Amino acid sequence: MANNEDLFKKIISHAKEYGFVFASSEIYDGLSAVYDYGQYGVELKNNIRAYWWKWMVQYNENIVGIDTAIFMHPTIWKASGHVDAFNDPMIDNKDSKKRYRADVLVEDHIAKIEDKIEKEVSKAAQRFGETFDAKLYRETNPRVVEYQNKIDDIKSRFYSKLEEGDLAAVKSLIEELGIVCPVSGSKNWTEVRQFNLMFSTQMGSVSEDANTLYLRPETAQGIFVNFLNVMKSGRMKVPFGIAQTGKAFRNEIVARQFIFRMREFEQMEMQFFVRPGEEMKWYEYWKEMRMKWHLSLGIPAAKYRFHNHDKLAHYANAAADIEFEFPIGFKELEGIHSRTDFDLNAHQQYSGKKLQYFDPETNESYVPYVVETSIGLDRMFLAILSNAFTEETLEDGSVREVLNFPPVLAPIKVAVLPLMKKDGLPEKARQVFDMLKPNFMCQYDEKDAIGRRYRRQDSIGTPYCITIDHETLENDTVTIRYRDTMKQERIAVESINGLLFQKLAANIAE
Ligand code: GAP
Repeated sequence: MANNEDLFKKIISHAKEYGFVFASSEIYDGLSAVYDYGQYGVELKNNIRAYWWKWMVQYNENIVGIDTAIFMHPTIWKASGHVDAFNDPMIDNKDSKKRYRADVLVEDHIAKIEDKIEKEVSKAAQRFGETFDAKLYRETNPRVVEYQNKIDDIKSRFYSKLEEGDLAAVKSLIEELGIVCPVSGSKNWTEVRQFNLMFSTQMGSVSEDANTLYLRPETAQGIFVNFLNVMKSGRMKVPFGIAQTGKAFRNEIVARQFIFRMREFEQMEMQFFVRPGEEMKWYEYWKEMRMKWHLSLGIPAAKYRFHNHDKLAHYANAAADIEFEFPIGFKELEGIHSRTDFDLNAHQQYSGKKLQYFDPETNESYVPYVVETSIGLDRMFLAILSNAFTEETLEDGSVREVLNFPPVLAPIKVAVLPLMKKDGLPEKARQVFDMLKPNFMCQYDEKDAIGRRYRRQDSIGTPYCITIDHETLENDTVTIRYRDTMKQERIAVESINGLLFQKLAANIAE
């Protein structure tokens, strides 16, 4: 599945209809690229955050979590390089008046050439059958080699011009490649300009002495500037990590694609401080660990891939993305970056405070190197939601809409349903509900026929439904219905808590 816009639209409308995600300020016609989470969305989001925290903080003795303020001293953003370098090159189409990121236009063009390569390879695979050697074919087939050379040439020219700040050359390349505006179809482009992505605001009551502050564009800097505090107060020994989750803000040029690219979003980041020279070992380690975290959720491995960066950010000496196959294609979900000692060194310089670690093993003081893992919570939400959304045609020809969330992430874990609204069944169901609610997010529902109630729970991804019927009153047993298989089995009321704990722990095991 390369680009499935219809599916994407269905997911967006399902998210709205069932209380997962709403456009912000919707009754005022919304605010571009800003979203609110509804009653089930907030549960899913909290569960993803908790699952991340558990793996990163609770399971690792040498990682601790913090929670730093969104407002920070403005010099921090000077030191981090964001004031000078947190820019995107933008270009406008004069006919459609639409604004684009120049790098995204070029990358989309490259993706089209890559598609051509993939088509050639899959055609050849069909032709040659089992004896086909894809690697050899990619290296030797003249047409594929020609496409690949073209890609390499575009990449090297584009990134070198961008790095040199030669924006006129970037525009010339866009023209030379014949890139057209997807809306107007024209090549009538403006000059390319740099656009800083940070939002600013004022702190202070009197406008004359008010300070310009920035809304943080990443949570990582809150970690760097607390490196010393945490190291000393926590008696941390290198290698160690500091994690945090929280809001970040970016004035994105291309802000579309639902919650994939937002102007206000949440990050889950971890900075791992290591001995200089050991950063590549830890970089590889965290790449592996983060992929393991994703796969622990039971999502097929084929939906993930690594993408190593050609162009590195100003602070990095190695960087890779974990990409996920969204309905809009494979896109970045998480970044793993080897950030060197860039940030701590810069803060040392700008603050005048020593940000060093004394290593008792080597008897040396040094500025640690940093390997970072950084994932967007909203983007992970979108990955989970789009992977879960399924339309199943049942034997009777009806279509069942179901969200196959990993149970550990499901907003509601269990629904308690009296078969009928009489004969004491609701009272018994309330007792079961009260027994379960201290442990699990539960929902009680007695309205409509049981089949409709099951479907409602399927639509919000509830993995287990407990039904109370007349037999329950006789022998204290209930039926448990499983969302994915729709199978039901009879279990004792006293065993429900234990069974659910066991099933929900499945993803947690390392
Ligand atoms: N501290 C490093 C850093 O911020 P990044 O690659 O710019 O690196 C990390 O961002 C992650 O944050 C991305 O992989 C993505 O999941 C998420 N992210 C970045 N910009 C976003 C946006 N505008 N909307 C939603 N998520 C975003």
